[in-house]
Amino acid sequence: MTSKTPATRRVLVAKPRGYCAGVDRAVQAVEKALEQYGAPIYVRKQIVHNTHVVRTLEERGAIFVEETEEVPEGAIVVFSAHGVSPVVHQEAARRSLRTIDATCPLVTKVHNEAKRFASQDYDILLIGHEGHEEVEGTAGEAPDHIQLVDGLDSVAAVQVKDPSRLVWLSQTTLSVDETVETVSRLKERFPNLIDPPSDDICYATQNRQVAVKEIAAQAQLVIVVGSENSSNSKRLVEVAVDHGADASYLVDDASLIKDEWLDGVTTVGVTSGASVPDELVSEVLARLAAHGFADVEEVESIEENVRFALPHELRKDLRATV
Ligand code: F3S
Repeated sequence: MTSKTPATRRVLVAKPRGYCAGVDRAVQAVEKALEQYGAPIYVRKQIVHNTHVVRTLEERGAIFVEETEEVPEGAIVVFSAHGVSPVVHQEAARRSLRTIDATCPLVTKVHNEAKRFASQDYDILLIGHEGHEEVEGTAGEAPDHIQLVDGLDSVAAVQVKDPSRLVWLSQTTLSVDETVETVSRLKERFPNLIDPPSDDICYATQNRQVAVKEIAAQAQLVIVVGSENSSNSKRLVEVAVDHGADASYLVDDASLIKDEWLDGVTTVGVTSGASVPDELVSEVLARLAAHGFADVEEVESIEENVRFALPHELRKDLRATV
């Protein structure tokens, strides 16, 4: 400990944190496919946005590719939790690939909403981050009807065919508060804009934001475990700073924590994104304990018990071999 180290140091660990039901299902889909069919199993894009998860699956025989054209004809390919556009399914069928679709059911729900509203000739304003895989997949369901609204600044540029037939949908992993603001700005411009039939921001994103707000209000520093390309993890950093933490950092693992972040800090909050295995949080806690943060309290905001069944293509074969 340095002279700047305060006497009592504690850690507040947010709950819920880490794996959501969609990530758990997607990771298990690759693991079970490897067991059932043997390596290699191809995976289009990162199965979930976490470098450690991807590396671990690679070690077991998964091969990650950017596009289906990199997959040999007839091989098995898993589609990631973020979902794919229909053209990706068509391309896979054209090349006789065997597909396992690990799209999170809550992303599929948004795809279905997009298809339904497009079939009724609505203009769809999709609130989300440009270039994110989930947004590309959802937009691909109805490219002629969907336009992206990437944050408050893009509201002014929105142009629609018929302002009386207009709906907004969203990416599942956005900041709840920021989305509320974007929608209210859109409604100032388009008073007839209708809301999605149910929340598109998923339960896991919402719950992790509620939980981080609770610890951020009591901590000077909040460490969020997650990868740089994980949308929901990055939102947790922003929410932590907006709700009381002096600072918040996103780290892929414990080795990236800088000692100077801890100078003068008495309470550290810790949470993790929806694609983060809990062992990475345990390693962060061990690192903090080595700096005198031995008093660890888990702060539970909401109980979570959502589970999703494995993709049906896989379940069918697993059943057949039991
Ligand atoms: Fe699904 Fe939400 Fe997780 S959309 S993959 S439950 S972050």
